[in-house]
Amino acid sequence: MQPLDLLIAGGRLVTPGGLVAADLGIRDGRIAAIGALDGQAAAERLDARGLHVLPGVIDSQVHFREPGLEHKEDLASGSDAAVLGGVTTVFEMPNTSPATIDAQALDDKLKRASGRMRCDHAFYVGATAENVGQLAELERRPGSAGIKIFMGSSTGSLLVEDDASLERVLRAGSRRVAVHAEDEPRLRARKALAEAAGDPVAHPEWRDVEAATLAVTRLLRAARAAGRRVHVLHVTSAEEIELLAQARDVASVEVTPHHLTMQAPDCYQRLGTRAQMNPPVRDARHREALWQAVTEGVVDVLGSDHAPHTLDEKAKPYPASPSGMTGVQTLLPVMLDHVAQGRLSLERLVDLTGHGPQRIFQLAGKGRIMRGYDADLVLVDLEARWRIEAGWLASRAGWSPYEGMTITGRPVATLVRGRIVARDGALVGDPMGRPVRFLETLGG
Ligand code: DOR
Repeated sequence: MQPLDLLIAGGRLVTPGGLVAADLGIRDGRIAAIGALDGQAAAERLDARGLHVLPGVIDSQVHFREPGLEHKEDLASGSDAAVLGGVTTVFEMPNTSPATIDAQALDDKLKRASGRMRCDHAFYVGATAENVGQLAELERRPGSAGIKIFMGSSTGSLLVEDDASLERVLRAGSRRVAVHAEDEPRLRARKALAEAAGDPVAHPEWRDVEAATLAVTRLLRAARAAGRRVHVLHVTSAEEIELLAQARDVASVEVTPHHLTMQAPDCYQRLGTRAQMNPPVRDARHREALWQAVTEGVVDVLGSDHAPHTLDEKAKPYPASPSGMTGVQTLLPVMLDHVAQGRLSLERLVDLTGHGPQRIFQLAGKGRIMRGYDADLVLVDLEARWRIEAGWLASRAGWSPYEGMTITGRPVATLVRGRIVARDGALVGDPMGRPVRFLETLGG
């Protein structure tokens, strides 16, 4: 038998069939064998005794800010943060400058990513009233993660505000569409509340539950009318979960670690505008409803919504302060801590970070520890207790809402297609990230 390139020995693997104590063999970047492999020749060995081996995290919502906003982040620094945190694939958002709304901008991002990103990647194309005629072609281009709709405005100017435009966008193309669901007219009408308060504690009042449920209701109606699958990003409230639990035929659901970990009002009292994001972190009732939705299976994926802004920008008086927090590097560590606290099983976590994104987005050969799949892996020490410190963070923004937090569970090594890209908190090797492929558009 041909020797293996790498043998990961003695770990506990989280496979689609459950937890298995087994060795894992890698050849040509793929998982070549799972089982007792001590007899097998291998060019290299990685001792995983005492560690768990998970599929690398697929983070299907990050903002890496390039081109145009590189003072906050770029594709290189964002991908450094990703692999240090155990993330091996990212889908990057289109609200850059210029926005990713045409073939030229998409190809430009792919070119910039080549040789600079350490993780594999795809880029969303933003929908506008103007590019609707090109969306069906754009979603099928190589490297495209599909279409993203902003129903409510956030950072940048992308917006699909009215029902007619929404339905037109949903009728163009066939892949699942990712949607930021907040109702723009209601946000506009209530902005004065935020201005009067001058304090981010008012953020969930301005961008209230009604703004979210109105948008989700409109979106589900349009999705059914158009016969199109949608993916509702960063769901934040008990009421949206109720609506989405009745819409499993057309809608998939993302929550973020931020909304599962923080709660209002104390996050705003503790972190000020650093806790400000869209849609907002809400109170304990909503946080519990999101956990219930994780337990009951209404949530399909976890996404970080990594949205870096500098601390100078965050220091502007609310609501001039921009919305968004870093999160790609802390997604897995923070969730491992929830596993340690008994809030979800390791298997369910892997379902949300690997199997779920693979299923929802129909990724080719990723997100599962199965023979023939890409060897995108993260080795974790479930027992390690450590403190999240600014010095560990690779994001150019340089901060995290979790700084100072002591947690249990740590990524120890990250592999992308069989190559070690991060180990013991340090980056390894040159950036070799590639565009991912999707089953619906294979060949890309
Ligand atoms: O808080 C947010 N920040 N929510 C978004 O939807 C966009 C993001 C950003 O790009 O800053």
